[in-house]
Amino acid sequence: MPTFTLSDLHAWLEQSRRRGPAFYDDERRCCTVLGHPEIVSVLGDTATFSSDLGDLVPRQEDLDLFQRGNFVRMDPPRHDTLRRLVGQAFTPRTVAGLEPRIAEVTTGLLDRQAGERRIDLIEDLAYPLPVIVIAEMLGIPAADRPLFRTWADRLFERSDAGPDESLAALTGRDAVDAIAPALRDMNAYLLTHIRARRADPGEDLISRLVLAEADGARLSDEEIVGFVGLLLLAGHITTTATLGNTVLCLDAHRDAAAEVRADRSLLPGAIEEVVRLYTPFPRLARRATTDATVGETAVPAGAVVVTWLAAANRDERVFADPTRFDPRRAPNPHLGFGHGLHFCLGAPLARLEARIAMNILLDRYGDIAVDATEPAEFRNPWMMVSPTRLPVALTAR
Ligand code: HEM
Repeated sequence: MPTFTLSDLHAWLEQSRRRGPAFYDDERRCCTVLGHPEIVSVLGDTATFSSDLGDLVPRQEDLDLFQRGNFVRMDPPRHDTLRRLVGQAFTPRTVAGLEPRIAEVTTGLLDRQAGERRIDLIEDLAYPLPVIVIAEMLGIPAADRPLFRTWADRLFERSDAGPDESLAALTGRDAVDAIAPALRDMNAYLLTHIRARRADPGEDLISRLVLAEADGARLSDEEIVGFVGLLLLAGHITTTATLGNTVLCLDAHRDAAAEVRADRSLLPGAIEEVVRLYTPFPRLARRATTDATVGETAVPAGAVVVTWLAAANRDERVFADPTRFDPRRAPNPHLGFGHGLHFCLGAPLARLEARIAMNILLDRYGDIAVDATEPAEFRNPWMMVSPTRLPVALTAR
């Protein structure tokens, strides 16, 4: 199995970029989009570039069940109706109310490692923190997190994805068959919880979804499965990635890190830069619903359009000195959280979790250094940019 690094991904993106900000490959029926304005135009036009990949993805029963409520793969008006059902729970104002609990969970997790001079930042903090937060919001037991982790690992493993395989890894029969067992387990788990909440509703988000009406009708248990699965998965893997990537990035840029440590008002800008430079979801896929153009490239109806957020986030037409980590960069119109109608619902929560956790880490430890003696491990960056194991050496203050 080839092992790809983030540098491999960016070397490939840079090489691809020489063909232009967008180009079409007839054999694969794939439009690759690398430029920032071109991606904004694709993601901003849901009528021409649908999130519903339709027959580009082979049918599979577990996937079909998951897709019934998975609104990230829907277009308006159904997308908007479903998104509105939970929108209120994720506004900056509402998530600000979670601040004390996020701080408490962070402190509790770090207390467990008190006295340790080496921890695995992922295992001990970056993974459990967002899982506990989203599981509590949804009303499912955070103690089941080993299960969630297995599903996410199986859904995002595809270690063979890479330059040649990138499209097959996204939409091929093999890709769908590979994720089906994990989806089946997750669907079954969620269905049990949804049924329990319908029988005995509480105050959590699943209970609200069970009682909510969309277009005058209650959502079925099956529709809620993908809806909740999306929140559960999206609600943690990317935040885990961002916390790990922030520690990696500050370790790699010691001068900027010292400035952030001394002036915490720079932390939100630093986190935006991490999401820009280490874009957790490097690409998003859309389907052309009609003959269209992207930039100057013609794309036929039915083609897949792969937008490389990771490339757009280093587009020198938009970002001066694009590979530089600059916590003071303003404006910073990165696309790490997407763009348009599907702009990340959880961005306020992710930003808050990252800010609180990093502030507490910086308060506790005078130095946080990536441990050179123990290798870090990473997901395949073609699938997701994230460490899965990140040993760090800590120096107490
Ligand atoms: C959508 C990234 C954290 C929930 C998205 C999209 C991106 C993204 C790129 C757009 C997908 C598309 O257009 O196809 C990130 C990053 C995160 C993060 C980088 C962390 C740094 C979260 C969290 C939640 C969340 C904490 C919590 C529930 C969602 C949902 C959508 C979404 C529900 C679908 C929105 C829609 O289709 O309308 N995210 N996300 N995300 N994200 Fe996040």
